[in-house]
Amino acid sequence: MSKNFDVIVIGGGPGGYIAAIRAAQLGFSTACIDDWKNANGGPAPGGTCTNVGCIPSKALLQSSENYEHAGHAFAEHGIDVKGLSLNLGQMLARKDSVVKQNNDGILFLLKKNKIAFFHGRGSFVKAEGGAYEIKMAGAAEETLSAKHVIVATGSSARELPGAVFDEKLILSNAGALAIGSVPKKIGVIGAGVIGLEMGSVWRRLGAEVTVLEALPTFLGAVDEQIAKEAHKLFTKQGLAISLGVKIGTITPGKKDVTVEYVNDKGAAQKAVFDKLIVSIGRLPNTNGLNADAVGLKLDERGFIAVDGDCRTNLPNVWAVGDVVRGPMLAHKAEEEGVAVAERIAGQHGHVNFNTIPWVIYTSPEIAWVGKTEQQLKAEGVAYKAGTFPFMANGRARALGDTSGMVKFLADVKSDEILGVHMIGPMVSELISEAVVAMEFRASSEDIARICHAHPSLSEATKEAALAVEKRSLNF
Ligand code: FAD
Ligand code: NAI
Repeated sequence: MSKNFDVIVIGGGPGGYIAAIRAAQLGFSTACIDDWKNANGGPAPGGTCTNVGCIPSKALLQSSENYEHAGHAFAEHGIDVKGLSLNLGQMLARKDSVVKQNNDGILFLLKKNKIAFFHGRGSFVKAEGGAYEIKMAGAAEETLSAKHVIVATGSSARELPGAVFDEKLILSNAGALAIGSVPKKIGVIGAGVIGLEMGSVWRRLGAEVTVLEALPTFLGAVDEQIAKEAHKLFTKQGLAISLGVKIGTITPGKKDVTVEYVNDKGAAQKAVFDKLIVSIGRLPNTNGLNADAVGLKLDERGFIAVDGDCRTNLPNVWAVGDVVRGPMLAHKAEEEGVAVAERIAGQHGHVNFNTIPWVIYTSPEIAWVGKTEQQLKAEGVAYKAGTFPFMANGRARALGDTSGMVKFLADVKSDEILGVHMIGPMVSELISEAVVAMEFRASSEDIARICHAHPSLSEATKEAALAVEKRSLNF
């Protein structure tokens, strides 16, 4: 006997569990299937984001930054720390407990919204009579059916050919978040978001970190001026970043791993690391979905093929988050999940891809929304720019964190904000103002005329908006 629902969501990451909650809010009987297991084999909903992504990485970024501050920055504030020592076991245990709080919180939310949660793997069986039959294989096996199915199965780390993740020497994001003692030398392949965040964590805790990046440019998707500043600051902090490298053979030994590569000058190099983190992008999770049973189409890159509204080629089958095109971000997955549930209810769910913020949680943080200066140039858009350095911001001076800047890009004629780029303290929070402004199609003058609290980091945003018309007040 199959259990029948209005909506079945396969995957309980930010895309899936949020889609399930919204569907339940809209009055649909909803099931959510997720296979993530905690250390005891129990359910751990929240997906990559909660278990081995956003949440644990931010926990370790915070802990390692506290450690670095205690060792260096506190002295300037007149706080002398004697006998500072690292208890890595406690740091990792705290990270695990932060993850568990989030797992438990999601289980509570599913229950509160009367969503039937199934712990196991979901796969398509057949489409019949206007409904899809889904097999759920966990500790027990169940047959479920529903008119609407939302696939939110996420993504997994991409391996380099010949370098299998053993999570002991060659680490994916999962292994990089759980190294039991600080290695002397860590190699990181890929200077993307994970490489820089995890590289920063282990550098702060005392490892010598070398980052090897294939592209000749650093953070190519980031505004060039901001990326240049980031490269300068990260290098000064001690991250050794090599661009334009070609990775060759990777050979794991008993206790270390050897990486052969060719540097940007064409010279053959060999480096030996105690641990190697490979962070070269992620691949969509479609294995095990049994997509062929119902003819669910994938695109040429292996993602589930969807239109702008997350509709697949099959009627009433939708897909959201990392398993479809677009940025692999938790908040993008969530927005798509909400929009799909609303579309199922006949409403006009909408995701504005132009105003999805990006944040890299290094120190200083990097955050942006909208177009970069290089994109506007390439598109031939006439723009004006305004920047303001945190060096001239009173709150940043009081914090003792004056690196970086805020940069506005606005249309030369209409003054509409086209992009906002930030590097500096807490810009992960400051970027929201820019997102709201762009969502309401504000001009740079709108921000320049708004009263911002003093002293606050947000004054740098106002000042950068003022700088668009070359009328900053404090610089
Ligand atoms: P996922 O979170 O991957 O969830 C998919 C779930 O579906 C998983 O639990 C998976 O096990 C399950 N599943 C897969 N197949 C099946 C099946 N057949 N049956 C049942 N269950 C299945 N993004 C940010 O926005 N901010 C950040 O700070 C950030 N930090 C990150 C740090 C790291 C180290 C990593 C790796 C990623 C980070 N991301 C961050 C990206 C973010 O984690 C993803 O974009 C987000 O998790 C995608 O959500 P999702 O719901 O699409 O997929
Ligand atoms: P990424 O796409 O951010 O970076 C991968 C980097 O590896 C790129 O710079 C690429 O040029 C490089 N690369 C690819 N192949 C290579 C090779 N063979 N040799 C050397 N370098 C190579 O991917 P990453 O860091 O794995 O993260 C995956 C995704 O997870 C991100 O794109 C992002 O969407 C998400 N994420 C988001 C975070 C956030 O929002 N703060 C944090 C961490 C991850």
